[in-house]
Amino acid sequence: MGLILSINCGIGSSVGVFAENGVPIICIEEERFNRIKNSFGFPEKALSYLIDKKIVSNEIVEKVLFTNSENGIASKKAFYEYYDASFATALKNSKNETGKYFNNLLTKIRDTRLYEIYCGIRYGKAGNGSEEINKILKNFGLDTNKVLCVEHHLCHAASAYYGLARNKEDKYLVFTLDGGGDGLTSTVSKGYNSKLERQSSSDCYSIGNMYSAVTYFLGFTPHEHEYKLMGLAPYVNPKYVEKYKPFFAQFLKLKEDDTVFYNPIKLNHAKFFECLVDQFPKDRFDNISAGLQAFTEEIVCKWVKGNIKKYGINKVLCGGGVFMNVKLNKLLSELPEVEYIDVFPSCGDESNIFGAAFYTFSTTKQWSKGLLERYTLGTKPIDIETSIEKYYNKIVAKKIENANKYIAEQLAAGKIVARCSGAMEFGARALGNRSILADPRNLSSVNRINQMVKKRDFWMPFAPAMLAEKADTLIDIPDSLKQQQSPFMMFAFNAKENKRNVIPCGLHQADFTARAETVSESKYPDMHEIISNFDNLTGVPCILNTSFNLHGYPIVENADQAIDVLLNSEIDVLIVENYCLKRA
Ligand SMILES: [Fe+2]
Repeated sequence: MGLILSINCGIGSSVGVFAENGVPIICIEEERFNRIKNSFGFPEKALSYLIDKKIVSNEIVEKVLFTNSENGIASKKAFYEYYDASFATALKNSKNETGKYFNNLLTKIRDTRLYEIYCGIRYGKAGNGSEEINKILKNFGLDTNKVLCVEHHLCHAASAYYGLARNKEDKYLVFTLDGGGDGLTSTVSKGYNSKLERQSSSDCYSIGNMYSAVTYFLGFTPHEHEYKLMGLAPYVNPKYVEKYKPFFAQFLKLKEDDTVFYNPIKLNHAKFFECLVDQFPKDRFDNISAGLQAFTEEIVCKWVKGNIKKYGINKVLCGGGVFMNVKLNKLLSELPEVEYIDVFPSCGDESNIFGAAFYTFSTTKQWSKGLLERYTLGTKPIDIETSIEKYYNKIVAKKIENANKYIAEQLAAGKIVARCSGAMEFGARALGNRSILADPRNLSSVNRINQMVKKRDFWMPFAPAMLAEKADTLIDIPDSLKQQQSPFMMFAFNAKENKRNVIPCGLHQADFTARAETVSESKYPDMHEIISNFDNLTGVPCILNTSFNLHGYPIVENADQAIDVLLNSEIDVLIVENYCLKRA
């Protein structure tokens, strides 16, 4: 058997190459190559890279997988036009004056025909997919008869099960939940003895749809800025949380012993927007966010508990965009019913390339335990000397003996350090190789990073990366996460009360939770060495870690882009492998 090439043409355009034994070799997202954040559609530039570098070719690729059962290429433009059109429809139908007022302003985006276009793309029923994809594959010299399509929610479930399960003899309940794919929005499967068996599914207007709609309604970008609502929620007085939560509860409920979602009334974005416009004409955005987050936590926890009770399996694995919500994951990990939990890293549609490949592998080969060891699966900075030469009059570069020790010293001295070394991380979270690092002890670090480069919303916290072996001195780790912890930043934790003043920069300032990355020596030796050195210097086994990108741009991919950010920000030091770079 040759290599598996796995492609996601939907939201979070991505491509991955997997070995004969199912292990990922290289996985990359289109946004890193076309420099458009959160790209949709066929990953043409990323696949070009793989072909140009001779990592894949028709001769060595045995299968070409797609992450939807009916092929289609998503379009970002059509996607957002669909939201605009649905919202325009809602305003048109609105009973209150605010809706009527805005409706008059939005005359250009009332064309509800766009809704039909979007549905065609989303479910691949418009027939635009296969032919177009086949044409692209042929242009890349790939045989179209190698194409296999794996159903969307099977991809999410297979990512979690075949990627994360520690032992095939253990029984797992695998949950998927998102804004929709191949006509479904949630599934529950049993994972046992290398087989995934779906037990139930739903196709209703999901919590993922509601969350994206509210994100749009509040003026943010859907399928991108949902985390900002989650970050706002802890600032809200609980009495307003309770006031706003019931609004959402009327649209989504659970049936069959709390195991399956359904909508009491027929819903789509236009209808839901209409209810939002009518109910919240002048309401505060933080209160709405907090009500939604509380409802999300309540109904998903109830769903997970209902299924654990029904199937008597209390090891839980999760995939799908809704589980990017680390505060929800925190509550799931704290449920007494949950003995073990893990969530696939960056579990939106971008990581469905893993599920498609893992599932296909499992149908032909013996599988015994999780295939995902690490997530640094991208490109490495090469030709650093060429980049240094290119920018010779703008930067000062020097070679250093021990980059990891140097970084720790700089951090302890209060410097903001950007690191572009080793293989790039896949997905939404930078885990150290494409990261901006800082001292977590002083809150001024947050302000400096925000002013220098990130320009984040003022309420959004930064995240800490801590030594795995000392993590429980800083955060409360529930029993369900004791073994695997949080190497991919998929869970939030309560900070130990006596550490709130020690690592304030890495905590949410309202509730003192931390979206922690627990760094083990075996998985991330360089990052582990940096934090160990910082610990030796300061007595704090933790540093602040945020993704290395300018506001609004994707994470940097190569040395040129890293230098570009250095020149267009006030980052103190840039480390690219064993070179230290500063502005001239
Ligand atoms: Fe999905």
